[in-house]
Amino acid sequence: MSTGGTLTEKIRIIGGKQLKGEVLISGAKNAVLKLMAAALLVKGESKIYNVPELTDVIIMLNVLEQLGAKTKYDKKEKSITIDASNITSVRASYELVSRMRASFVVLGALVGRCKEAIVALPGGCAIGERKVDFHIKGLEALGTNIKIENGYVHAKARKLTGTDIYLDIPSVGATENIMLASVLAEGSTRIQNAAQEPEIVDLANFLNVMGADITGAGTSEIIINGVKQEDLKPIEYTTIPDRIEAGTYMAAFIATKGKGVIRNIFPGHLTFYTSKLTKMGADIKLLDPTSIEVSCRRKLEAINIITQPYPGFPTDLQSLAMALATVAEGVSIITESLYENRFMQVPELRKMGADIHQERNHALVKGVKNLTGANLKASDLRAGASLVIAALMAEGQSIIENIYHIDRGYELLENKFKMIGADIQRFIEEDTAIITQDKGNLSESQL
Ligand code: EPU
Repeated sequence: MSTGGTLTEKIRIIGGKQLKGEVLISGAKNAVLKLMAAALLVKGESKIYNVPELTDVIIMLNVLEQLGAKTKYDKKEKSITIDASNITSVRASYELVSRMRASFVVLGALVGRCKEAIVALPGGCAIGERKVDFHIKGLEALGTNIKIENGYVHAKARKLTGTDIYLDIPSVGATENIMLASVLAEGSTRIQNAAQEPEIVDLANFLNVMGADITGAGTSEIIINGVKQEDLKPIEYTTIPDRIEAGTYMAAFIATKGKGVIRNIFPGHLTFYTSKLTKMGADIKLLDPTSIEVSCRRKLEAINIITQPYPGFPTDLQSLAMALATVAEGVSIITESLYENRFMQVPELRKMGADIHQERNHALVKGVKNLTGANLKASDLRAGASLVIAALMAEGQSIIENIYHIDRGYELLENKFKMIGADIQRFIEEDTAIITQDKGNLSESQL
């Protein structure tokens, strides 16, 4: 029987090391991807700094190139330049959009700039259905005619006219797409029940520096007064730090009873998360406006968490808090209210000895004395990150597979963890789970 396995990257972690030292947080993935789309609105070369080196950023550069923009990525300087003087196509292909759903945000920018866009529907993903109906209704309200054909959204408008748009859910992506489309619309657009995430504020700031007229970003009502194409100028802009990466390293210091400093962080973006960690027993000190010190000397205590849109507890940090709750004293109740399927870390944490009872979108986590290392699979980005935290505090060795999920959101993951004393190694191994059929023997995937 031949093994036709593929070579895959995995991470090995030997747990139990107390993490100590300093971590520098990278630019926010979920902000920078939207700034890149926003650069399509302007003729000329814009430059964005503090760009993390992540696969999602590369995919977005490919999307922009496909539309005719000229892009450059300076890894050393951590900057990208985007020259969208000539948009030669309004079609973002399924091959790219399906690899990274955030690229769907080019829809609003293309409609704004070209009054036409053909963008593949991203479909659902591991964490939930992730519909885009509010994006579409919002663009229709601005005067866009939308047809869904062959898996693509075909949007066309003679002109865009500002109007009032109420979102049933404060969707981050819908708020961004509507904002991008209305920058060049005639008159005023008012988004009510808008998302208030820091990434929305970053996008509004970027657009305003470029010449747009947006007020209210960061509140539930955003007003976009339309401007003319000639009012927009290419700009240089530095993106905000990644609050979810920062929250992950906070969890890592706490999980290992370590002590560390996190720099290039906007602590105000993590207020809710910080208050929950403090209630669990962590010590979090503000050192200066962009640095905090995190430590934990006490036994962690159970916590109740309900994920909510910003400024509530972030869904992207729910799995990290769950990793901490697995060893906290008492029973934690964790409710996920944004996504249908964001407890993918649960079966993996159970392999490590965690005591978790899950009922639909609620998880009861009864703290155990300690976790033990195991072979684990990352199913999505944040579930994967929670396994890293769990493995760092577990006794013995853990191997994490499918780390490409984690690489989507964490720049230089193992380098940053090594710098603070973690025993973490990336290695390549043949994945023998994929076994080809040979002379009538059943392959493993058929069993
Ligand atoms: N929703 C709809 N219809 C819509 C839009 C959203 O039903 O038209 C639902 C979604 O299915 C979901 C909820 O509303 O259940 C929230 O979705 P939202 O649109 O706010 O999320 P998103 O824009 O798709 C961004 C981040 C996510 C983060 C959420 C919530 C990016 C690229 N992604 O997603 O980040 O979880 O906001 O804060 O910005 C991650 O980084 O791991 C990640 C998943």
